[in-house]
Amino acid sequence: GLEPRPAGIELMAWPALQFAVAGCRACALCTNRKHTVFGVGPHSGQAGEAAPAVDWLVVGEAPGENEDIAGEPFVGQAGKLLDNMLLAIGLQRGNDDAARPGVARNIFITNVLKCRPPANRNPDPTEIAQCEPYLKRQVELLQPKMILALGKFAAQSLLQDSVPEVQKIPLGKLRGQVHRYLGVPVVVSYHPAYLLRSLGDKAKAWDDLCLAMSEFKR
Ligand code: URA
Repeated sequence: GLEPRPAGIELMAWPALQFAVAGCRACALCTNRKHTVFGVGPHSGQAGEAAPAVDWLVVGEAPGENEDIAGEPFVGQAGKLLDNMLLAIGLQRGNDDAARPGVARNIFITNVLKCRPPANRNPDPTEIAQCEPYLKRQVELLQPKMILALGKFAAQSLLQDSVPEVQKIPLGKLRGQVHRYLGVPVVVSYHPAYLLRSLGDKAKAWDDLCLAMSEFKR
């Protein structure tokens, strides 16, 4: 059955937050999942004690089939594209041990939802609302200097307090500018799964990455 979210998420340290997500039964997605997907970044170097030091946070939508099996975000086709997009601006996901010279690994990758929706349907508003405190606490503990919000669910979730009626604004109008979430700059772009189907928008995604990188370096 379902249970309320654990109390005190807003004060949790990183290991407690990981534990809370792994055991979460606050919405019906818990009944079908194989794994929760907390997110992945570099090792903190402190044996599960602290949040890793990262400059970048990537927020996607929700785990798909591969992610549900692996317990890791963006391990399927969309993830390969995401990795290539990140590499193009000099970033490499942090758990990849084959670090390349000149490539920074200070990036954490996660999703709005930590559990897979059945048949990859869109997240529903209740699920998003139940899961949001986890993402918020991740941002507070990671203290990234730049957030890339990929797709409309990430954009809506992160911008709901700063952009009036954000759910009515097309993604194309949210990109191309620097928003804020908890004071952290947020750049919105297309979801890589969408880009796999709409190659014509890849150039715009590239513009978004460049915007994020130039804002990051300011
Ligand atoms: N799509 C997402 O939004 N997140 C993943 O982790 C994988 C695919």
